[in-house]
Amino acid sequence: MSWAETMLLFLLFALSIPPSSQAWSVDYPSPIANVPSHWTNNNATIPYNATYADGSTSRAILVRQNPAGYAPSFACGFICAAPCDGAFLFAVFSVSIGGSSTSAPANTTAAPRVVWAANRHHLVKENASVQLTKDGNLILRDFDGLLVWSTNTLHGPIVGVNLADTGNLILFDVMGKTVWESFEHPTDTLLIGQSLRQGKRLTSASSNLTQGQFYLTVLDHGLYAFVDADTPQSYYQKKFNVTDAVVQSKINISSDEAKNVTAYISLLRGSLSAFASLNSTRIKLFDMSLPWPSSAQLMSLEDDGHLRLYGWNGLSWKSLADVLNVDPEECAYPTVCGEYGICSEGQCSCPAASSGDTLFRQLDDRQPNLGCSPATPLSCDLIQYQRLLPLPDVTYFNFADDWTTDEESCKGTCLKACSCKAVFFRHQNDSYGSCYLMPKLFSLMHYKHGTIGYNLSCWCSCSSSTHLRAPSLHQKGNNKEDAGGGSV
Ligand SMILES: *[C@@H]1O[C@H](CO)[C@@H](O)[C@H](O)[C@H]1NC(C)=O
Ligand SMILES: *[C@@H]1O[C@H](CO)[C@@H](O)[C@H](O)[C@H]1NC(C)=O
Ligand SMILES: *[C@@H]1O[C@H](CO)[C@@H](O)[C@H](O)[C@H]1NC(C)=O
Ligand SMILES: *[C@@H]1O[C@H](CO)[C@@H](O)[C@H](O)[C@H]1NC(C)=O
Ligand SMILES: *[C@@H]1O[C@H](CO)[C@@H](O)[C@H](O)[C@H]1NC(C)=O
Ligand SMILES: *[C@@H]1O[C@H](CO)[C@@H](O)[C@H](O)[C@H]1NC(C)=O
Ligand SMILES: *[C@@H]1O[C@H](CO)[C@@H](O)[C@H](O)[C@H]1NC(C)=O
Ligand SMILES: *[C@@H]1O[C@H](CO)[C@@H](O)[C@H](O)[C@H]1NC(C)=O
Ligand SMILES: *[C@@H]1O[C@H](CO)[C@@H](O)[C@H](O)[C@H]1NC(C)=O
Ligand SMILES: *[C@@H]1O[C@H](CO)[C@@H](O)[C@H](O)[C@H]1NC(C)=O
Ligand SMILES: *[C@@H]1O[C@H](CO)[C@@H](O)[C@H](O)[C@H]1NC(C)=O
Repeated sequence: MSWAETMLLFLLFALSIPPSSQAWSVDYPSPIANVPSHWTNNNATIPYNATYADGSTSRAILVRQNPAGYAPSFACGFICAAPCDGAFLFAVFSVSIGGSSTSAPANTTAAPRVVWAANRHHLVKENASVQLTKDGNLILRDFDGLLVWSTNTLHGPIVGVNLADTGNLILFDVMGKTVWESFEHPTDTLLIGQSLRQGKRLTSASSNLTQGQFYLTVLDHGLYAFVDADTPQSYYQKKFNVTDAVVQSKINISSDEAKNVTAYISLLRGSLSAFASLNSTRIKLFDMSLPWPSSAQLMSLEDDGHLRLYGWNGLSWKSLADVLNVDPEECAYPTVCGEYGICSEGQCSCPAASSGDTLFRQLDDRQPNLGCSPATPLSCDLIQYQRLLPLPDVTYFNFADDWTTDEESCKGTCLKACSCKAVFFRHQNDSYGSCYLMPKLFSLMHYKHGTIGYNLSCWCSCSSSTHLRAPSLHQKGNNKEDAGGGSV
C-alpha cells in the first residue's frame, strides 16, 4: 500500500472515531473498512450484534452514526427477521441509536428497517462470509462457500468501503472516487436523492425478507407497478411521452441522439419526480408532490403493493403518504381480497351463484382478505365440466391483451381453455366488444351499478362436476359449444 493510500485511510478512519466512551457505552464498528477485510456471520467475529423486541436479530460490520433526531443511524451487515430461524440477509438497515451520546446503546424497541439488500433470493446461514477483496470486489458467500452475491466491480482497484450518512454503501478508489454504490442498485426502497433508472425494478419484500410479488418499474413510456405472475399484471400506470417532452424543451437533437434518451424517477425533497436524461441534460417529465421532509425520508414498495413514504421521527419511521393513486383506493390493489376475492368498499367476499350452490370457499373464515378457492378445482382433464359463473357489477384492475370479437365467442374461448380463470367482455356496440381472458385472477372489484363509464360483463370459471355430472356428460357427446355457452 502506498503512503498516500495509508494516509487517506488513516484520515477517513480518524474522522469516524466516536468521542470518548463512558462506562455503559457501546463501541460501534467504524463506518469504513479497508481492503482486504473478511467477516464471518457469527457473534464471535462480528463486532456488534443486537436482538430487538420483535425477535429480529442483527450483526453489523459497519455502523454510521447520525446525530439523534437528524436521521437514523445506518448499519451494514446481517439481519434475521423475527422469529429468527437462522436465515440472514446481507443488507443496509436503519438503526435507532438513542440518547445524545454517540456511544449510547441502540434502542432495541425500534426494529431495524432494511433499505438495501444483496440477494433476497438466497438468504444465508450462520458462518456465511463477506469479503472485501484486493481486486476490488465485495463478495458474499454462504457457509458452504457458495457464491451468493458480488458487486462484480471491474473498474477497480478500490481501497475501501464506506457506509455514508445517507445510507449509501460505497466502494471507493484511492482518489476517494465512487466505484460502486448501493444507491445505483435499489431493492425495495428509495432514500432521498436515490433514483430508479429505466428498466430497473423496485421489488417488494416479504416479511421474512425474501423477494415479494410486486414491482415498480420505469419504462420508456411511463412509470408502472405490476404484480408478478406468469404474465405480470399492471395495477398502476403513470404515462409520459419522452419524445413530446424533448420537443417541448426545444432542445435540438438528432433522431440518433433521441434514441439515447432514458427515463428515471428520483425521490427528492417534497416530490417523486420523473426525468428524461440525455448526455448531461435532463428534462422533467412529471412531479408527484409529497410531504416536505422535516427529517430523513424513505419510500418503499411494500408487500401489499402500496408504495409508501415514511419520515424519521427521531425514534422510528412513520408512514406519511401513500404515493400511488389507484382508484378506488381501498379495492384496486391486486391482493387486497386475495385470489378470487371480491372487494366492495374494503370488505371481501367470494363469488357466489344465484342458485345458492357453494362454488367458492374462503381460504380462512376468519380472514376473508386471504381470498377464495374453487370448491371443485379446475382441471384440464375435466374441462367439459367447466362453467362460467356471471359476476354482476364486478370489474378488475388490469385489462390487457384484449381482442375484438362477439360475446359468445369470447365466453366460448374461455370455456375451451383450462387456464382461463375468468373472462371479461366490454361492449363496443350491440354485437362486438373487447374480450379479456385471465390466466390468473387476483382480487376483483365491485362497483355500484352504472358508476363505471363502460358496459362490462364478467364471468369466472368454475367446475360443476359434482352438481351436473350426468347432464354434462350427455351434452359433451352432442355439442360442447352449447354445453359451455350457458351460465351457472
Ligand atoms: C454479541 O453476542 C455475544 C454472544 O451472544 C454477546 O456476548 C455480546 O455481548 C454481543 N455484543 C453486543 C455488542 O451486543
Ligand atoms: C448471537 O447473538 C445474538 C444476538 O445478540 C443472540 O440472539 C444469539 O443467541 C447469539 N448466538 C450465539 C450462538 O451466541
Ligand atoms: C425506544 O423506542 C421506543 C419506540 O420506538 C420509544 O418509545 C422509546 O422511548 C425509545 N427509548 C429511548 C431510550 O429512546
Ligand atoms: C461456525 O464456525 C465456528 C468456527 O469455525 C464453529 O465453531 C461453529 O461451530 C460454526 N457454526 C455453525 C453453526 O456451523
Ligand atoms: C417467505 O414468505 C413468502 C411469502 O409469505 C413465502 O412464499 C416463502 O415460502 C417464505 N420463505 C421462507 C424461506 O420462509
Ligand atoms: C409522443 O409525442 C410525439 C410528439 O408530440 C407524438 O408524435 C407521439 O404520437 C406521442 N406518442 C404517444 C404514444 O402518445
Ligand atoms: C438543429 O440542428 C440541425 C443540424 O445540427 C440544424 O440544421 C438546424 O438548423 C437546427 N435547428 C434549430 C431550430 O436550431
Ligand atoms: C449514445 O450513448 C452512448 C453511450 O453513452 C454514446 O457512446 C453515444 O455517443 C451516444 N450517441 C449519441 C448519438 O449521442
Ligand atoms: C450529446 O453527446 C454527444 C457526444 O458526446 C454530442 O455530440 C452531442 O452534441 C450531445 N448532445 C446534446 C444535446 O448535448
Ligand atoms: C351492454 O350492451 C349490450 C349491447 O349494446 C346491451 O345489450 C346490454 O343491455 C348492455 N348492458 C348494460 C348493463 O347496459
Ligand atoms: C360493431 O363494431 C365492429 C368492430 O368495430 C364492426 O365491424 C361492426 O360493424 C359494428 N356493428 C354495428 C352494428 O355497429
